[in-house]
Amino acid sequence: MNQTKIIAHRGSKGTHPENTLEAIEEAVRVGSDGIEIDVHLSLDKEIIVIHDETVDRTTDGKGRVQDLTLTELKKIDAGSWFSPEYTNCRIPTLKEVFCFLEEIGYKGLINIELKTDYYAYPGIERKVLAFAAGNNWPFAIEYSSFNYRTLIRLKEVDSSCEIALLFKNNGENVAFLGSDIPVRMWHPKLSWFRNKSLFGAPEIPVRVWTVNKSKDIQFCLNKQVAGIITDYPQKALEIRNKW
Ligand code: G3P
Ligand code: MG
Repeated sequence: MNQTKIIAHRGSKGTHPENTLEAIEEAVRVGSDGIEIDVHLSLDKEIIVIHDETVDRTTDGKGRVQDLTLTELKKIDAGSWFSPEYTNCRIPTLKEVFCFLEEIGYKGLINIELKTDYYAYPGIERKVLAFAAGNNWPFAIEYSSFNYRTLIRLKEVDSSCEIALLFKNNGENVAFLGSDIPVRMWHPKLSWFRNKSLFGAPEIPVRVWTVNKSKDIQFCLNKQVAGIITDYPQKALEIRNKW
């Protein structure tokens, strides 16, 4: 049996400002098997690592990511909203995240979630794949999105890329992707998985999100899921390693 992998959600979102290099470094420090990050495009078409469509919640700035240039995005503080300890953390680009992970010798999985749910960011799929293909990165790369059109586009651009189907409660809609598009994993919300697991195991391996409470981590470990996506990777690893 394969061990359940612990995937750090937005870096280590529960302990550090999400989707920053500081959060990602923490995810690596505690020994996460994987790291999930979210991406959008800036006005000047840089791939930006941030969760929301706007910078309002996670920085001291305002506005939509797509209306700001990289230079403008780099001026804002992405840490002090979380804690004064992280004042001056910056929003990273995908390139900065990858170069940082390479530099610190990370060899796990990186899960890039393309945030095309509200804005399509035309060309983002091709851009992200081209960037990822531009170097022999020492870690595995997988893509996910709530937007199934993005998953199909990713596969059209590079049929060998690994995609994970991300969903809240509509897992059965997987047929929408078509039987000729292989999906490696499902990334369901915990509530869906809990309900589904009453009726037996899902047909495809799952990585469940966002699993933060000890009892939920234990529940998922008991169900032998492929992975747990969590804001608290250190805690999840401690529980798993005692399992
Ligand atoms: O990959 C799971 C999770 O990231 C999906 O939701 O909104 O946190 O990006 P969200
Ligand atoms: Mg995400």
